[in-house]
Amino acid sequence: MKGKKDVYTASLGLVGAAIGLGNLWRFPYMVGKNGGGAFLIVYISFVVLLGVPLMLGEFILGRSSHNSIVGAFKRFTPGTPWYLAGGLGILTSSLILSFYGVVGGWSLKFFYLSSTNAFLGKNSQELGDIFNKFISSPVDPIFWQVLFMLITALVLISKIEGSMEKITKIMMPMLFLIIMVLCMKALVLPEIGNGMAFFLKPDFSKITAGGIQAAMGQAFFSLSIGMGVLITYGSFMKSDENLLISTLHVIGTDTLVAFLIGVIVFPVAFTYGIEPGSGPGLVFTALSSLFNDIPGGYGLGVMFFLLLFLAALTTAISLLESVVTCLTNQCKLSRNTSVFTAMVLITILGAVTSLSLGIWRDTNLFYILDYVTVDVFLPIIAMLISLYLGYVLELKVMEEEMANDGVKFKYTKILQNMLKFVCPVIIGSVLLIGLILN
Ligand code: PHE
Repeated sequence: MKGKKDVYTASLGLVGAAIGLGNLWRFPYMVGKNGGGAFLIVYISFVVLLGVPLMLGEFILGRSSHNSIVGAFKRFTPGTPWYLAGGLGILTSSLILSFYGVVGGWSLKFFYLSSTNAFLGKNSQELGDIFNKFISSPVDPIFWQVLFMLITALVLISKIEGSMEKITKIMMPMLFLIIMVLCMKALVLPEIGNGMAFFLKPDFSKITAGGIQAAMGQAFFSLSIGMGVLITYGSFMKSDENLLISTLHVIGTDTLVAFLIGVIVFPVAFTYGIEPGSGPGLVFTALSSLFNDIPGGYGLGVMFFLLLFLAALTTAISLLESVVTCLTNQCKLSRNTSVFTAMVLITILGAVTSLSLGIWRDTNLFYILDYVTVDVFLPIIAMLISLYLGYVLELKVMEEEMANDGVKFKYTKILQNMLKFVCPVIIGSVLLIGLILN
């Protein structure tokens, strides 16, 4: 019989890959930019309606094919162009990792700055200036980005990749602990009322078609849907692992972390006079302002930025791993060559996106890449995966994967219909309206 512990360990690695900059950095920045509470409600609706069936679907594809995204399509439908959707998934992972590495570098830099007490005595205006000056500099952010990417690649080629699970095991409870402490601090801030109202009180007049599209992209991004990363994880899952429980565990934890970060960031932003829509620096500026102002702030700050870095690292590893697995399997390159090639190309592109926040500002590349990958490519691939599971994959395969201990899962047909009709229609219409009106 399978012990509870195995299930816990299997989905723990997944939680580590899912929780990252998407929850801690991008979520509050998107909520702030897209009007607050209304965005939150639309986001949660997408997580439930699209996230649950699609995550289950990716696990089913992975576990039944014992393969990564490209291999899964090739295995079930050989000789058809479906595997190209897998190729798009791998391309998207690489493009996402290019700017992910840049922000991962910011987390390292802020870990360094907070541990050297560089924020001491600065107000939120000055902290915002430090952040903006840093990300727009031509050298400094690239140095930290390269360092971040090197660490990611080193983990992949060294033998310590397996130990990352241990790091995740320590990291997750610590992250929860620090989030709880920060929530308690946030709850006693003078502007808690306005901050919470912004985050929780929906004002639907503030949300646009672009905002709805952004909420869908953020849901996919945060849950790691639409790149095949979950298919790869599915292929490692044991045959007796309950897919529904793992899905609900990952989605529940991921959404809870994002929500709690919002509970912290918005009261802090309102208290320290930081504009919620101020952009990608929101979490960095808001939290360093808080750490400067509270007793024990130094220790909390160092811990927070260290955990931010580790959460980014565990996720970057899963992104690079899926690119590397594809290169080794499909292009027959050795593992080290694959890691090196992928890392160098992705880092170069990342450095260019970093420059687009400074000297190459006119190109807007950072924001364009973020938009195209998260708000356009992820939904397109998610829709293809959904159609594949709904129309191409035999219901029998789905039934086999969803059954537990020989007991049939009663709702497989509903799941198939969700993937056949509900998901493609929602994704298609949100994407189309977003693209037309944007
Ligand atoms: N879910 C990750 C995060 O929240 C990002 C990610 C997306 C990771 C897709 C892997 C695949 O940071």
